[in-house]
Parts: sequence; C-alpha cells; structure tokens
Amino acid sequence: MDIDMNKVEQFAGQVVGDIAATFSGVMTNIGHKLGLYKAMAGAGAMSPKALADKTNTHERYVHEWLNNQTAGGYVIFDTDSGEYTLPDEHVPVLADDESPVFLVPALDVASSLWLDEDKITDVFRSGRGIAWSEHHHRLFCGSEALFRPGYKAHLTASWIKSLDGVEQKLKAGAKVADVGCGHGASTIVLAQQYPNSTFYGFDSHDESIEIANQRAQQAGLNGNIHFSVATAKDYAEQDFDLICFMDCLHDMGDPVGAAEHARQRLSEDGTVMLVEPAAADSVNDNINPVSRLYYAASTAVCTPCSLSQEVGLALGAQAGQQRLSEVMQTAGFNSTQRVAETPFNIVLEAKAA
Ligand SMILES: C[S@@+](CC[C@H](N)C(=O)[O-])C[C@H]1O[C@@H](n2cnc3c(N)ncnc32)[C@H](O)[C@@H]1O
Repeated sequence: MDIDMNKVEQFAGQVVGDIAATFSGVMTNIGHKLGLYKAMAGAGAMSPKALADKTNTHERYVHEWLNNQTAGGYVIFDTDSGEYTLPDEHVPVLADDESPVFLVPALDVASSLWLDEDKITDVFRSGRGIAWSEHHHRLFCGSEALFRPGYKAHLTASWIKSLDGVEQKLKAGAKVADVGCGHGASTIVLAQQYPNSTFYGFDSHDESIEIANQRAQQAGLNGNIHFSVATAKDYAEQDFDLICFMDCLHDMGDPVGAAEHARQRLSEDGTVMLVEPAAADSVNDNINPVSRLYYAASTAVCTPCSLSQEVGLALGAQAGQQRLSEVMQTAGFNSTQRVAETPFNIVLEAKAA
C-alpha cells in the first residue's frame, strides 16, 4: 500500500491529542470534585503545597495533577518560582458552576458512556435500544449540571423573549408544560422567573421526577410547580399556553406522536418551544467539536433511547432544523421557525394556529 507517511504521522498526532484529552478528562473531573480549580480561581500563582493545604489534599498528587494541567494548557507554570496559575479566563469554564460556559459536567456524561460501554457495544449488534433509565446515574446528574447554567443564562433572558407574545402571558399568569423535564432544571428556572404562572414537568423516568421534586423543594418552590411521571404522549392536563421540549424531543421514540399530543394539549393560541442541540442539516456542515461531541452522545444515549420506545424514529441529536420542522409539520403545526441559538442549542418556535 502506497500511503503518505506524513499524513499518517499527522493523523496519529491528532489521535494522540484526543487520547491525551480522554485521559485528562478524568483529571479535570477530579480537579472539580476536590475543589482544586475553585481554590486556584482568582488566587494568583500558587505552589503545589499551598494548593494542597488549601484543599486538604496531598501535595505529591496535587503536584502531578498540576503538571498534567500545565501540559494541557489549563494552568500556567512559572519555572522561576515553581508556582502555577489558573488564568482568570479559565475560571468560568472550570471553576464557576453558575457560568453558562461551565463545561466540567460534560465529563460526568462522558464517564457514563465509558461505564455503559458494554451495553452500547451490545446494541450495535442486536439493534435493540437502551432506555434512559438503563444508563449509569452519572448521565442523569451530568446532563442536569451541564444544561442548567445554559438555562439560567438564556432561557428567560433570551429564549422566552424570542417567542411571539409568550413572555407577556407568562408574566400575567400562564399554564406551561416542560415535557421530558429530567431533573427539572429548566422548569425551576421558569417557575422562579414567572411566579404568576403554573408549571408542569413531565418525564417518563420516575427517578428523575423524584429528583425534580427534591430540587423544587430545595429552591423553595411548591405552589406553582408540579412534577409527575408521564410520557410525552400520555399526560392528561390541557390548555397549555406554552409547551417546552428541552433537549429531549430527539430522545423520544415517537417525536411526531409527542408533538401531536402537545398540539392537542395547547390552548388555541399556544406555542411549542423546541430546544435542541445545535446542528446544521447535513453532516458535512457539522464538522466541529460540538457536533462531534453530540454525535457521540447521540450514538450512545439519544439514538438507543429512541430505539427503546414505540416507533423508534431515532432522529439523533444532530437532526437539524429542517428535519425537526418536518416532524412538527407532520404533527400538524403550521409554522416552525428558528428564534434563537447559542453555540450549543437551537431554539424553534412551533405554532399550530
Ligand atoms: C437529555 S434529557 C433532558 C432532560 C431535561 N429536559 C433537561 O434539559 O435537563 C432527556 C429526557 O427525556 C426523557 N424522555 C425520553 N423519552 C421520553 C418520553 N417518551 N416521554 C417523556 N420523557 C422522555 C428522558 O427520561 C430524559 O429525562
């Protein structure tokens, strides 16, 4: 075989970088769990001993960890002083769990993929699905922690405002469903911002609903928020002014059926807000790190979740606006349009009226 060895070397270098990132993901998660990043945030240059003392950890381990972080460009090492600094610009990404770009929880999701590797390998052969509930619990908390900062930053400040006439209704007092609500991160953000409205969170995963109820209690909410176990096609409440699908329609076996049910449960002038992973319509336009990550999550979690349910349409997490609009149109919605986007999400507004 006559192959270009320069290209082989170049590609091997790329894969080494990926493998180094995979090894280092564990280091990042450990740094988060032990509070190492938080202890370094805004603290300037620190010796390994100072960091170990501040975090009640052992200096030798901390020193080795800092060298890994330096090699990855996460922290900066000063040869003269032997001290390490976490740049201020890295704090929102690694140390501030309220920041919209706090990305560390993605590693909990990644760890759940490793822990479920055997199951995922098996379904490639069998073609069967894997229900959301069959995954390692790190997936559930990781998804919640990963999505929550984005909901806090964008949901009420921009996404709701971008929907025609919806914010006024929510301020005055509206009825809202959050279908496939998981741990209720988005439902709680909405309920806190719009106390005159009533919020119903539905999810087919009973453990997630249990946690959502705990989160609502912790947030001091119990009047205007209700969580219950229900699939996207069998909740009974109706006359909703707004029905949200937050990063979940593509996980459903029958997204057309779910959208149809939503159409029937909306008030006359009601709106569906569809928040989905950012994606272009063609794989060739999805050649970027965010899509790469989403395609992996889609292969391991979203596609098997859909295939575990009736119909098993398996849209995948990178379905794109055109495909999602077709789903909504088939379900009887007259218009579906993009009203907002972030590097991680697209937000679509669907109206039946
Ligand atoms: C990626 S999680 C998103 C959770 C939540 N919306 C969030 O943004 O944090 C997908 C959720 O959809 C739920 N789900 C999947 N299929 C469902 C169905 N047919 N009916 C109701 N919930 C479903 C799963 O149980 C899971 O909680």
